Amino acid sequence: MNNDNLIDIKNLSKTFKGAFEPAVKDVSFSIKRNEIFGLLGPNGAGKTTTISILCGLFPPTSGKVIIDGMYLHNDVDQIKKIVGVVPQDIALYPTLTARENLNFYGHMYGLKGKTLKNKIEVWLSNFGLTDAANRRISTYSGGMKRRVNLIAGVLHNPKILFLDEPTVGVDVQSRNVIIEYLKELNKSGTTIIYTSHHMDEAEHFCSRVAIIDNGQIIVEGTPKQLITDNSGCTNLESVFLKLTNKALRD
Ligand SMILES: Nc1ncnc2c1ncn2[C@@H]1O[C@H](COP(=O)(O)OP(=O)(O)O)[C@@H](O)[C@H]1O
Ligand SMILES: [Mg+2]
Repeated sequence: MNNDNLIDIKNLSKTFKGAFEPAVKDVSFSIKRNEIFGLLGPNGAGKTTTISILCGLFPPTSGKVIIDGMYLHNDVDQIKKIVGVVPQDIALYPTLTARENLNFYGHMYGLKGKTLKNKIEVWLSNFGLTDAANRRISTYSGGMKRRVNLIAGVLHNPKILFLDEPTVGVDVQSRNVIIEYLKELNKSGTTIIYTSHHMDEAEHFCSRVAIIDNGQIIVEGTPKQLITDNSGCTNLESVFLKLTNKALRD
């Protein structure tokens, strides 16, 4: 194992109960400390399945994962303490306000009192949500919900942040706020792993990417490297088209 690696994934496979085909097939890759790593691929490629395994939501069928020197199958509770998760589906209570939702998540992470209150206020303000903080989530736009969803995943200052398609269904304004904020978070020392099917966004955001299709990693490298290595390609989207022979399904 390379010591620069914060996460090592070895021969990971997952076959869901009753499924004929594995959703993830023999996937291996590593994530270095302080990277912004993109796991990119079309819908159904296996991105959510991979991320869900990495953050301990369910176990793989086979393979192993080492996170910050700990084996996922032994130390899942320890690992959960240093990891933040922003799931693809919004995980907020619609009848509670943004502030109440964040209070709930803060307590879940063991935060409380003034510390929690201050953190919530700072995050709400960073994301331009202070004025709307006492409104129920059910009255929020998609972009606003995404921003609250994101805050819920970072309240406890995780060392590693997993985000599953954080910019899907988001207006341009929220999208820019989210991307810029994630860059800041990364500068302050958080390793970021994100999934997306937006090659253009990932090309500008990620320090390194892996392209996954049909449950398998096709290629891995810096966006620049992948574009240079594939003759005739001028961007990540064209690299994807060339290597998979298919357009991105939406
Ligand atoms: N809980 C599940 N049970 C059965 N099949 C699943 C489940 N979750 C995902 N799948 C299947 O696994 C494959 C990969 O899905 P997923 O990881 O969600 O892809 P992505 O996030 O890249 O869109 C798909 O064929 C999907 O239908
Ligand atoms: Mg998904």
